[in-house]
Amino acid sequence: MEGRRVLERAAELGIEYVESVPERPVNAAAMPAELRETLDLPLPEEPVDAVTVLEELARDVEPGLLHSTGGRFYGFVIGGSVPAAIGADWLTSAWDQNTGLALVTPAAAVVEEVAGRWVKELLGLPVHASFGFVTGCQMAHATALVAARHHVLAQSGWDVEQDGLAGSPPITVVAGAKRHGTLDRALRFVGLGTGSVRAVPVDDQGRMLIDELRAELARASAPAIVCSQAGEVNTGAFDDFDTISDLAAEFGAWHHVDGAFGLWAAASPELRHLTKGIERADSWATDAHKWLNVPYDNGIALCAHPESHRAALGIRSVYLLHADDERDPLDWTPEHSRRARGFTVYAAIRALGRSGVADLVERCCARARDIAAGLAELPGCEVLNEVVLNQVLFRFEDDESTDAAVAAVQAGGEAWMGGTTWGDRRAIRVSVSNWQTSEDDAARAVAAFASARSLAV
Ligand SMILES: Cc1ncc(COP(=O)(O)O)c(C=O)c1O
Repeated sequence: MEGRRVLERAAELGIEYVESVPERPVNAAAMPAELRETLDLPLPEEPVDAVTVLEELARDVEPGLLHSTGGRFYGFVIGGSVPAAIGADWLTSAWDQNTGLALVTPAAAVVEEVAGRWVKELLGLPVHASFGFVTGCQMAHATALVAARHHVLAQSGWDVEQDGLAGSPPITVVAGAKRHGTLDRALRFVGLGTGSVRAVPVDDQGRMLIDELRAELARASAPAIVCSQAGEVNTGAFDDFDTISDLAAEFGAWHHVDGAFGLWAAASPELRHLTKGIERADSWATDAHKWLNVPYDNGIALCAHPESHRAALGIRSVYLLHADDERDPLDWTPEHSRRARGFTVYAAIRALGRSGVADLVERCCARARDIAAGLAELPGCEVLNEVVLNQVLFRFEDDESTDAAVAAVQAGGEAWMGGTTWGDRRAIRVSVSNWQTSEDDAARAVAAFASARSLAV
């Protein structure tokens, strides 16, 4: 086959990279200016041999890769990729299915259908919930919020799909002061605007204060959407979903959950209690590219009201081939053409099994506790959060020493995590989201801070 050598070489380069990650310093060695020296070529006028293109691409990007797929990466909330999911991702590109129509790309549609059902079963969400595979949690928010927008406005007698938002009854969004920034961006996309948000004060872990939430909901005029959170991005804290669902029912509000990573606690018998009542919400946004450890990009929107989800996003065109009794994937996401994201989720869940997903989540949390315990022993270190999940938030004596410590650890390459601000003080976040992070990796992260601090004095 013409092209076989190209694909074989790509596979070899990919495998060599994956195998090399555990031994590499975690940080990117080269910054953009340096990378441009090799990568910023003039537009090629003539064809270049494809194997040469791939070999030189791999060679030239390598210094600028952040090795976030390894077990010593703790930045942001970034999972690695289990081998079955990487393999399925490669096959997804080889198959290159435009996943919109069940009768046109049936395998992609059926695998997505099964992957969605498995996700619901793993996370304990209602069997009847609809779902769509999108690029990430932010687009899952946007997807869920257009369903919510449809639902609450229809209850007020307004057809937003036909008449738009100009002149509609105003929607109030009630969300915690520590909501993730992507919720605000999603609100901008869906036309509700950040000005629609009433921010509810939170406790020292970032959980909404229930009395304050009740007061905000009482002040809000219908229609309303309340947004809760499973896993605050710094602390990993969970809102009280049972009570929030009660309040949403009492005030006739739609309840949306940001469960980018924290929703996966529901897959673990040990941690499931943190998500109690979450299944009573109206919609959920989560990611597969975080804790399920599938490659970017892969987010999932789920909705307890399929008819509202479909009314908000469904599409029919005369040149497309629709079947009334099949699920067309394009009816559940904002995208028209898109990648077959179900294959990687299917492969990851099948390879791990229910027990493997639970084990992955529990191991990450155990390593987070190890890191927190180790850090707490370091002079001057204060762990700021209750380590209920996979997140550790900590700082040293003052802002300057905190920023200096994290910068030194990043530069050293032993581990990588980022800084943040909590309250008005600088802090450091550790997120253990990778299937490979071992006890030894956790000890190395603590040791990296010990040595960064001893070098600083
Ligand atoms: C709580 C929370 N919500 C939403 C997001 C956004 O997810 P994505 O980057 O996949 O859109 C994140 C990302 O870290 C998150 O932690």
